[in-house]
Amino acid sequence: MIADMQFCDESNEMENIMINIDQKTDDDGVIFMSVHTEESSKTDEDGNVQKNVEILAIESSCDETAAAVVRNGREVLSNVISSQIALHTLYGGVVPEIASRKHIEKINYCIEAALHEAGRKLQDMDAIAVTYGPGLVGALLVGVSEAKALSFATGIPLIGVHHIEGHISANYIENKDLKPPFVCLVVSGGHSHLVVVKNYGQYEIIGQTRDDAAGEAFDKVARAIGLGYPGGPKIDLAAREGNADAIQFPRVKIEDAAYDFSFSGLKSAVLNYINQSKMQGQEINKPDLAASFQKAVVDVLVEHSMRAVKEFGYNKLAIAGGVASNSALRTAMQRACEKAGVEFYRPSPVLCTDNAAMIGTAGYYEYLNGVRSGMDLNAVPNLPLGDRERRFHANQS
Ligand code: KG4
Ligand code: ZN
Repeated sequence: MIADMQFCDESNEMENIMINIDQKTDDDGVIFMSVHTEESSKTDEDGNVQKNVEILAIESSCDETAAAVVRNGREVLSNVISSQIALHTLYGGVVPEIASRKHIEKINYCIEAALHEAGRKLQDMDAIAVTYGPGLVGALLVGVSEAKALSFATGIPLIGVHHIEGHISANYIENKDLKPPFVCLVVSGGHSHLVVVKNYGQYEIIGQTRDDAAGEAFDKVARAIGLGYPGGPKIDLAAREGNADAIQFPRVKIEDAAYDFSFSGLKSAVLNYINQSKMQGQEINKPDLAASFQKAVVDVLVEHSMRAVKEFGYNKLAIAGGVASNSALRTAMQRACEKAGVEFYRPSPVLCTDNAAMIGTAGYYEYLNGVRSGMDLNAVPNLPLGDRERRFHANQS
């Protein structure tokens, strides 16, 4: 249990808010993490203290079982993440059946730990927010069924949350001043989207990938050069020792859709390079290859994002999703934003990869908008971002 395990304290590198990150690993290689931001009371424009809204959030869309308690959308009272990475590494990628089984084993513990660390009881919660898509159907079903059961048993309102909207909302946690509208680049294992966040809960997709997601490209290239799963962090690390200009890989532009991405050509170029080197009996310099591939991805992501903020006339750019924790992307985007006079926002790495705090934050704004889900809430593996069906509470607009 939590008290028996080793904790390591870390502070994030963000300038705005101090967060404390406690991390421990159990015998299964499962990581439990809590991220505490400073608590603060919420006041309205007249300075009156408003009622706090506390949300229990649940996330199980892929290979992380996670639960969090989030207050007023931007204060993380607890954030517990049970990662299955060590298990899936044995198979070189996520095995959906194993993911679902592990979610079932861990979900109750994660919820109990999240409530315990927040010093709250289930009955204290104002809503239960849960990811219902997109993701692996069997994995999503575990979180959705759990949230529905808790809501049914307690009468606490249920709110279905879009996973990608959660990733975008992670930016609100450490940047208390960030408000829509802004442009957000969402780059994860399954998605690469350029989104205009028009308002809380209102998203317009202006670009997306035509084939592989950015994270998928990282994972496939890492596997091809024997770095293993998950590829993103391993390429990030290997690239630090390499020369990013050693190999020229293509930067794909799509003529009729300036904000769309395509990474499959880049992946093929890397595979061709590896095969040619093998045929010529040349040893591959993994750090150079990792750095050159990473730069090709980062160049395209930065170029598209900066063009979007300029052409759409925004002065704020955020990044989100697992790939947003990439150190080269963070540095390059920061530089480009500084040069263009654009405010740059990015979550701490622990809040970029899958977690439930981001679901609690997105759920809070859905709660304020009057969104409530019914007992017919179901897992939707390909849930679209942007316009989607929502059920609104009778008393709200
Ligand atoms: O957002 P996420 O945790 O899960 C999805 O919703 O897909 O993203 C996982 C993806 C994986 O493809 C992983 O390789 C990638 O994010 N990733 C990274 C880094 N850390 C995670 N990619 C590049 N650099 C990183 N440091
Ligand atoms: Zn994700």
